[in-house]
Amino acid sequence: MTAETVHAPALPSGAAPPPIEARRLTKRFDGLTVVSDMSLELAHGEMLGLIGPNGAGKTTMFNLLAGSLKPSAGEIWIGGREVSGEPPERRIAHGVARTFQIPRPFLEMSVLENLLVGAQKQVGERLFANFLTPGLVRREEKAALKKAHDLLDFVTLSRLAHEPARVLSGGQRKLLELARVLMADPQVILLDEPAAGVNPALLEVIIERVVELNAQGRSILLIEHNMDMVSRLCSRVVAMALGKVLAQGTPVEVAANPAVIDAYLGGGA
Ligand SMILES: Nc1ncnc2c1ncn2[C@@H]1O[C@H](COP(=O)(O)OP(=O)(O)OP(=O)(O)O)[C@@H](O)[C@H]1O
Ligand SMILES: [Mg+2]
Repeated sequence: MTAETVHAPALPSGAAPPPIEARRLTKRFDGLTVVSDMSLELAHGEMLGLIGPNGAGKTTMFNLLAGSLKPSAGEIWIGGREVSGEPPERRIAHGVARTFQIPRPFLEMSVLENLLVGAQKQVGERLFANFLTPGLVRREEKAALKKAHDLLDFVTLSRLAHEPARVLSGGQRKLLELARVLMADPQVILLDEPAAGVNPALLEVIIERVVELNAQGRSILLIEHNMDMVSRLCSRVVAMALGKVLAQGTPVEVAANPAVIDAYLGGGA
């Protein structure tokens, strides 16, 4: 079987390696192959769309790239370094972070606290080094608080900072999820359906913010069923079904591809 490698646009020789790359990834669950020999690379500063019918294996690809699942075969490279066996925290340390398709904020904590919980973990990783310098911990906490407030401002949730997360609508939870991920200051952001279930007004906010993050030079891999959003944001799209790449190209090319149309009509079968 040959791997269908999805190449990012050609780089000049000597250019930096891709910020993230999947090489012939396979994931099996109890004999069921969910991702099959899938290769994919993101270019620096690119916003790449990943589409496909329900059950195609998109979120599983994210779980593999972000390290929450280990591949059955294949490799993951971040910035020219193999990370296949490393846990999610190491991927975050290498600047790769992902949002979850279904955000699960701590409902009884405030919106602000939800952001600080993640930051605390980052500070905590250096706790031993900070043990003898409590002033440094306080400074880091202050810096995290400022960052959390700035990010709540960025995602238009400032006025809800002290409300429990349970009051947030589905769309607002997606925005909180985006802010949560940005606390780690990632250079590569994996967005799993940021627009699903979001009302049109909030959808525009999400689109604007994603465009801004990309304009800051961050590379983004976007899973999304909303083709209008994908067409507006991505110049390149990869379509997958049954764990494999079906087609890649511009959004118009991919949407017109007969194999892609068949996969959607057949529900991926
Ligand atoms: N932990 C698991 N154990 C067994 N099967 C799984 C597991 N996770 C995912 N699957 C199966 O893998 C397939 C791909 O699921 P995945 O969530 O990656 O699809 P998706 O493309 O993200 O779909 P959607 O668009 O609905 O989010 C599905 O058939 C799913 O049931
Ligand atoms: Mg999914």
